[in-house]
Amino acid sequence: MKKKMVVLTMAALLAFSATACGSDGSSGSSTASSASTGSTSTQAESTASEGGEVANKDKPLVWFNRQPSNSSTGELDMTALSFNEDTYYVGFDANQGAELQGTMVMDYIQANIDTIDRNGDGVIGYVLAIGDIGHNDSIARTRGVRKALGTGVEKDGAINSEPVGTNTDGSATAVQDGTLEAGGKSYVIRELASQEMKNSAGATWDAATAGNAIGTWSSSFGDEIDVVVSNNDGMGMSMFNAWSRDNEVPTFGYDANNDAVAAIAEGYGGTISQHADVQAYLTLRVLRNALDGVDVDTGIGTADEAGNVLSDDVYVYNEEERSYYALNVAVTADNYQEFTDSTKVYEPVSNQLDESSHAAKKVWLNIYNSSDNFLSSTYQPLLEKYDDLLNLEVDYIGGDGQTESNITNRLGNPSQYDAFAINMVKTDNAASYTALLSQ
Ligand code: BGC
Repeated sequence: MKKKMVVLTMAALLAFSATACGSDGSSGSSTASSASTGSTSTQAESTASEGGEVANKDKPLVWFNRQPSNSSTGELDMTALSFNEDTYYVGFDANQGAELQGTMVMDYIQANIDTIDRNGDGVIGYVLAIGDIGHNDSIARTRGVRKALGTGVEKDGAINSEPVGTNTDGSATAVQDGTLEAGGKSYVIRELASQEMKNSAGATWDAATAGNAIGTWSSSFGDEIDVVVSNNDGMGMSMFNAWSRDNEVPTFGYDANNDAVAAIAEGYGGTISQHADVQAYLTLRVLRNALDGVDVDTGIGTADEAGNVLSDDVYVYNEEERSYYALNVAVTADNYQEFTDSTKVYEPVSNQLDESSHAAKKVWLNIYNSSDNFLSSTYQPLLEKYDDLLNLEVDYIGGDGQTESNITNRLGNPSQYDAFAINMVKTDNAASYTALLSQ
């Protein structure tokens, strides 16, 4: 173990001196600018050896976690998704995951019907933390929960995903009361409150805002809250820590972050793994394949020479959407022991590529918000493991979650990089990045 650490440190030092820059995770503009000045020779050599400059607009590009799409209608932004022939999106199957989350909550309610209605009023009340009303994953999760609990109402052919504010009297029109016959009794299921967890500076999926919201909700109608549901674990854990753990109210999230999985032992109701270990691999693998000039399926559906391959029960590829989607798994008291380390590489794709046939390349990668729990505590640590395995030197740029310019300002010199991995602040904003690559 110790020896391995030393070797890794040496490798890190070598990487450092080769590029004369740091890549210390979600740091500020200094990372990007020092990276820009330092790596000219690496890039020049790598492009020269391939016989000429590659224009930035032709370099491999992967969007991840936030799919280029219209934040009001959800329509995919195919211009961004097919920016060039080596452009892809990597995320997960939002509808399958949303459905799983809803079913997980409903299964829990049914299995615990004798104790779930804490004040015995015949109404099973839940509150819902919404991440970002314009993010398709967030919308899907809100719909999945409302669908499973029977509280959804249709709007324009789909379940309405708007927040209701407070609805303790059941009069909101964006949701309806559901009904449940269980344990020989008839119950009403009511969405008592829901809110987009956006802070005053504009950051969405904001855990602190969710912690405050549960404080407000519980102080005015706490005895009516029987279940807490959240679009993600960051917000879910904030509510659990602030209120539900002490009040023994089951709380459900999404992402299977380490802290949330551990909290299942203390009463956290459950979470969904979106297979971040597979997504992080795919994010970098599609770039690696394009840089190597091999079929995009290499090391994905088709084993590479090192033996890396994914089976089709963990991802799907939709060619028309140019998108890879990892599949989700529910994590509950029954199986959480298998999910205690969310930053562990996925074993079937954990084999090192040989540097002689997969030369080191430089990648610019951003995380939309360096304080997003899922991206910073699960996704980025995984990326950092896979970048070594795939011989990619990645500069990680952390945004503030509020403005795109905070990130695009740090893509000042794209010519220094061989490929790009982008996690937008808003799903509509792909053009702010592609414009820079097209200059
Ligand atoms: C994750 C959230 C995260 C969001 C950011 C979602 O896929 O589940 O936890 O905050 O992505 O874009």
